Amino acid sequence: MEFEKIVHERYATKLFDGRKIPEEKISRLFEMIRHAASSFNIQPWKIIIIKDQKLKEKLQPATWNQQQIPTCSHLLVFCADTGIAGNIDRLEKLMIENGADKESIKGYIDMMKGFEKNLSEEQKLSWSQRQTFLALGNALNGAKSLGFDSCPMEGFNPAEYSRILSLPKNLVPTALCPVGYAKDTQKDKLRFAKKDVFIEDSKLKW
Ligand SMILES: Cc1cc2nc3c(=O)[nH]c(=O)nc-3n(C[C@H](O)[C@H](O)[C@H](O)COP(=O)(O)O)c2cc1C
Repeated sequence: MEFEKIVHERYATKLFDGRKIPEEKISRLFEMIRHAASSFNIQPWKIIIIKDQKLKEKLQPATWNQQQIPTCSHLLVFCADTGIAGNIDRLEKLMIENGADKESIKGYIDMMKGFEKNLSEEQKLSWSQRQTFLALGNALNGAKSLGFDSCPMEGFNPAEYSRILSLPKNLVPTALCPVGYAKDTQKDKLRFAKKDVFIEDSKLKW
């Protein structure tokens, strides 16, 4: 499907019909998520894939009882990974495995390490959550491109998710993305007018 059409036809699905997405299709979605852009390519995220119906039902009360949770095919829990230093090490290894010379990338690696060192724990979380939302964006549009539906969700209790899923401290549930086949239908898109969204440079004092 053409990207412009995807953007207009994707919508926040409130109810899925319970059908399972074929493995071949869901793995293509995972590839689109995995290839999302991130600052320095640090990829500070982990996505938990939940297929088990009992587990989905256990998570529903921690999701304001929203209907998307038990009716979706797969529930993706987008977690920000605050273990940024570990990802920098993994990235360095990956770059070397892909032909980079350790010495020639030293400056770049040291720059990333310096950046990480200067972040407070709070800033690490905020930074990795911002990156994680880019991966979520790929999931939303990617699902539509593959012929199924999705819903971005923040209406859940992250602490409860961490507890139920026994997540390590560095993984912070940031957004949910249930995917499946919609049982509801798309409503008209309600968006602010172009003039209220974009500001042309001619309107600025500079
Ligand atoms: C970060 C984020 C969190 C959201 N949380 C929820 C949610 O918990 N439940 C829900 O039904 N929709 C949720 N939505 C969907 C929005 O309400 C929806 O995207 C918005 O109304 C625009 O509608 P559309 O996506 O259908 O075009 C969320 C959207 C975003 C981007």
